[in-house]
Amino acid sequence: MSALRDRLRGIVVVASALTTVTALAQHAPDRAAVASAHPLASEAGIEVLAAGGNAFDAAIAVSASLSVVEPFGSGIGGGALFLLQPAGDGQAVMVDAREKAPGAAHRDMYLDAAGEPIPRASRDGALAAGIPGLPAALAHLAERYGELPLERSLAPAIRQARDGFPAYAGLLRRIESRSRGMNAAARKAFMPGGALPVEGQLLRQQDLAATLQALADQGRSGFYGGRVAERLVAGVRAGGGIWSTEDLADYAVIERPAVTGQYRGAEIVSAAPPSSGGVALIDMLNMLDGFNVAGLDRVGRVHLLTEVMRRAYRDRAVYLGDTDFVDVPIARLTHPYYASGQSATIRLDRATPSDALPGVSLPPTGPGDQTSHFSVLDSRGNAVAATQSINFSFGSGFMPADTGVILNNEMDDFSIKPGVPNGYGLIGAEANAIAPHKRMLSSMTPTILKSARGIALLGTPGGSRIITMVFLASLAWIEGGDAAAMVAVPRFHHQYLPDVIEYERGALDAATLAGLERLGHSPREVGRGYGDMHVVTWDTETGAVDAASDPRGIGEVRYTTR
Ligand code: DON
Repeated sequence: MSALRDRLRGIVVVASALTTVTALAQHAPDRAAVASAHPLASEAGIEVLAAGGNAFDAAIAVSASLSVVEPFGSGIGGGALFLLQPAGDGQAVMVDAREKAPGAAHRDMYLDAAGEPIPRASRDGALAAGIPGLPAALAHLAERYGELPLERSLAPAIRQARDGFPAYAGLLRRIESRSRGMNAAARKAFMPGGALPVEGQLLRQQDLAATLQALADQGRSGFYGGRVAERLVAGVRAGGGIWSTEDLADYAVIERPAVTGQYRGAEIVSAAPPSSGGVALIDMLNMLDGFNVAGLDRVGRVHLLTEVMRRAYRDRAVYLGDTDFVDVPIARLTHPYYASGQSATIRLDRATPSDALPGVSLPPTGPGDQTSHFSVLDSRGNAVAATQSINFSFGSGFMPADTGVILNNEMDDFSIKPGVPNGYGLIGAEANAIAPHKRMLSSMTPTILKSARGIALLGTPGGSRIITMVFLASLAWIEGGDAAAMVAVPRFHHQYLPDVIEYERGALDAATLAGLERLGHSPREVGRGYGDMHVVTWDTETGAVDAASDPRGIGEVRYTTR
């Protein structure tokens, strides 16, 4: 078996070394497309495109609208990673709007006197919130890339907050389950009159509308300075948090080069640190490149993909963190030679126990299903793949009074103690320890794929499972699937620890499960479905634009000819 594997690996490595990404023959998109987690957010993007905006203006509209209509998943109280691809041959850039630790944060802030984690201290209340980055990103996009004033691009979201939008089942379910952990201002915003809204009832958020209006009128200082900043800081401090006005005033987005790699004729352009997503995605594809994937049966394929996931997530835990604070060997981790060293340890006839890889053994915890991804393409070929988050459902549950801004609990994405798993069961080490002003490690993986077929924009929420969902969908596109196939691909996941294959219901049939168990894997069903992927594709040969929203969610695609 292993001799055969070595032979196959040799052949494929030679073949892939000769493969270069075909230059894109650009045929303008035959229409513009927006795919997002809520129909009203997609419509906000289309409204701004129709008003003469480009994909970057539309991204502002979609992002801000999601803050309003999907307040449990992301918002201006949180952060985001925007991957921007300007039309033409320009390089993609990542606008890093990840939250930062407040200046008064310190490494052991969530540990008790005995050095043990204080339960939920990094998850609930004002102390769990990082300094938001999303409002700064919206202002930055308008200033640097947009064609419309920020005010115009924010108009749909302000209207949706002020006039209300119909409450829907998924929102009500999440309000109900999170309401006990919310502070009074948050409960008032989402349970007006003290009661859970009924389905279809208009949910108005006047304070949020006013805060968005301040951002529209004054740009970033409408949020990071003046009255809004004062209210945010006062609220956080009254709630036991440690924000200062300087933390807000000093927040700045950072433009970083995207990380890139190649797999069988496709170029992969993805999120750089402080996300672990792009590095892990490219490492996984590099490892796969050494195998004859097409020649495997279902058990063999799931097994191989699992082994690849296991190794990439082990590295994530060890090496990844904010590159402004720690050295992350990005070039090494995304280099094909590095991956061939990793894949040399993969056996096709047996699972590698995670504890056979250097590391530590830890208990599992489950991921949530919040955060939000959207993809936008305009008719000139400008493209955006963006993922934004407040982390868990309704973030910290804390809303500073009179702001309408529900704050993130992204501090939990730090490694609060080396080797102690966070809310997604992810472990980390020194590289992702808390430090003042540091950005916490993310799994958000907005991604752009390019090949002779054209371009695909993709991403999803899903905590630690984000990267493997993007991995599976990327493979689906590279192997010939369309947007609908990418979002529908059955999902399974391995993250090194816990040493189990998590899969959504129906993703692995009985024969596959039995085969995997025979190889030494421990598959575990984790519910009916997870993730909420939104994809746009553009065939650059013909100009055909296609898009798809995840069948597991309520999102919808919208198109326009503008
Ligand atoms: O940045 C991250 O990796 C997480 N805060 C994302 C959280 C997420 O996707 C929640 N949804 N499941």
